[in-house]
Amino acid sequence: MSALTRREFLKQAALTGLALSLPSWPATAWSLPKKNGGNPLPLPGPSGLYGLLAPEGRLTLTAAPAQGALPGRPGSPFLAYHATQNGAVFLNPILRLQRGQDFQAEMVNSLTEPTIIHWHGVDTDWRQSGHPLLAVPPGERFPIRFPVTNRAGTYWYHPHPHGLTGPQTYFGLASFFLVEDEEERALAQDLGLELGLTDIPLLLQDKRFDAKGHLVYAPSAEEKFMGSLGDTVLVNGLDQAVLTASRRLYRLRLLNGSTARIFHLELTSQGQPQPMVLMGTDAGLIGSPVSMERFFLAPGERVEILVDLSRAKEGQEFVLANRPFDPMHQEMDMAGHGGGHGEAKSPAAAGHAGMGGMDMSGMKMDGMDMPGMKMPNMKKDDMKMGGHDNAQGDAHGDAHGQGGLAEGAAYPLLRIQVGPGPAQVRKIPAIFSSLPDLSAIQTGSLANTRDFTLAARGQEWTISGLTYAMHETPVRVEAREPERWRFVNQVRSMPHPMHVHGYPFRVLSRQGSPAQVKGLAVNPSGILPTDLGFKDTVLVWPGETVSLALDFSTPDYAGEQTFLMHCHNLEHEDQGMMLNFTVAEGTKS
Ligand code: C2O
Ligand code: CU
Ligand code: CU
Repeated sequence: MSALTRREFLKQAALTGLALSLPSWPATAWSLPKKNGGNPLPLPGPSGLYGLLAPEGRLTLTAAPAQGALPGRPGSPFLAYHATQNGAVFLNPILRLQRGQDFQAEMVNSLTEPTIIHWHGVDTDWRQSGHPLLAVPPGERFPIRFPVTNRAGTYWYHPHPHGLTGPQTYFGLASFFLVEDEEERALAQDLGLELGLTDIPLLLQDKRFDAKGHLVYAPSAEEKFMGSLGDTVLVNGLDQAVLTASRRLYRLRLLNGSTARIFHLELTSQGQPQPMVLMGTDAGLIGSPVSMERFFLAPGERVEILVDLSRAKEGQEFVLANRPFDPMHQEMDMAGHGGGHGEAKSPAAAGHAGMGGMDMSGMKMDGMDMPGMKMPNMKKDDMKMGGHDNAQGDAHGDAHGQGGLAEGAAYPLLRIQVGPGPAQVRKIPAIFSSLPDLSAIQTGSLANTRDFTLAARGQEWTISGLTYAMHETPVRVEAREPERWRFVNQVRSMPHPMHVHGYPFRVLSRQGSPAQVKGLAVNPSGILPTDLGFKDTVLVWPGETVSLALDFSTPDYAGEQTFLMHCHNLEHEDQGMMLNFTVAEGTKS
């Protein structure tokens, strides 16, 4: 794979700012970050970066450089989807669609390398879904047209050219695709939520900046294998963001748009954990509210939460933060790197040890029913959270000559400061959505069970022993019926967020979960609150087997389909941890 040269190519493209006829973008649109008081959280407005755009006609989305568009980083390379509507200029617009609408757009490739847009989680025929086979060369256009048939939810879009998804997404090409329907509109009205003000999309992205404040992305071979971590987490393009809130209910739509970083999110105030009410998952509302103290959010996943600030005091501060966890990088033990990876390298490592529910019992294989798998020979020291944590931080820091942000470290993402004004109390309804009951699926007929084993081979990741071949379809779904798919992750592995295109799924069970995951389970099947709704991406931890139900009869696409399934760690995806699968022509037509 000539990823390195292509990556160089991309960097040059971003730096030279090659653009066709694009609306100009004021580089001074944002003030520089104020390091102490924090930066006001960019909220989606009627134009600009991550502005709200409800398409009225045929939209043009031009993938092109947008140097300086990142708030407070005037000289930094950046890529964005440029769009205009009624005179308003948008970069990476948050697209707002109504179910039943006909979505029409044209993608223009003004990059210096191939690209194509993928509508993540959105039901589209495979020819519209951004398959890498459909990537178009620089200067060319791609027509987009599909009916919006999804239930309401927080979907998103990003590039999907083979081998280049990571860098193109990393340099900025990504935003939300929000779908609304009747159920959603009624609920929003009930709760008094307004998109952009009290219903807030939050794009969480891990980045690395050089001394000049320019985005850099140049993962080493090791980082491609482990996933590339940055040093700064941006929320809607900005770090150290602060939201000034009213005393009322807020809906936060969290999207992890990082290439590799997993978040373990909690909300605290004065050091005390605060409840977050789970409202939706990847593909829309869950059935009824579930109160959570923390949850994992892997690349590609979305979680919608309600935060009730109606009882907060004026001036009270809430912090949405990463809570320490064990990133479980157990892959090095098998890749010929010896046993040194887990060793703590500095006293700072002790700072994280023993926090975040890290528990050795997670390595016991209880509940695991995979014959032939054995507990790996790990020294207890190797498993210390601080050890892994810090070793990872060091590895990334060394590679770039500066410090990184360890994945399992404690750090804030967003501060919420409660402003003055009267409290507005709204009752959270007992039912959010008429979601089909999981037991109906479980007892129903799952025609077929397929296992996909996630494992490393040398320094590359494989799915059932395979890596991506664009023109091969190793998985063939012959009948459009419900199936059970199982992702079986090895113990000597790392967490892999597995994503399936074309068909939303339900999580049926988790087996062999590590303690920090098992501790969150809501039922004997081991599923988590964030597994309760429809999903399109699911995090599979080392040693875990995650079973899914997919219904290949819905949506009922016309003709044979060729979709992708892959790891949404974008370094893994670009390295080939991806497969094509075909779904045979339906019988209805
Ligand atoms: Cu968001 Cu195939 O990916
Ligand atoms: Cu996708
Ligand atoms: Cu992976």
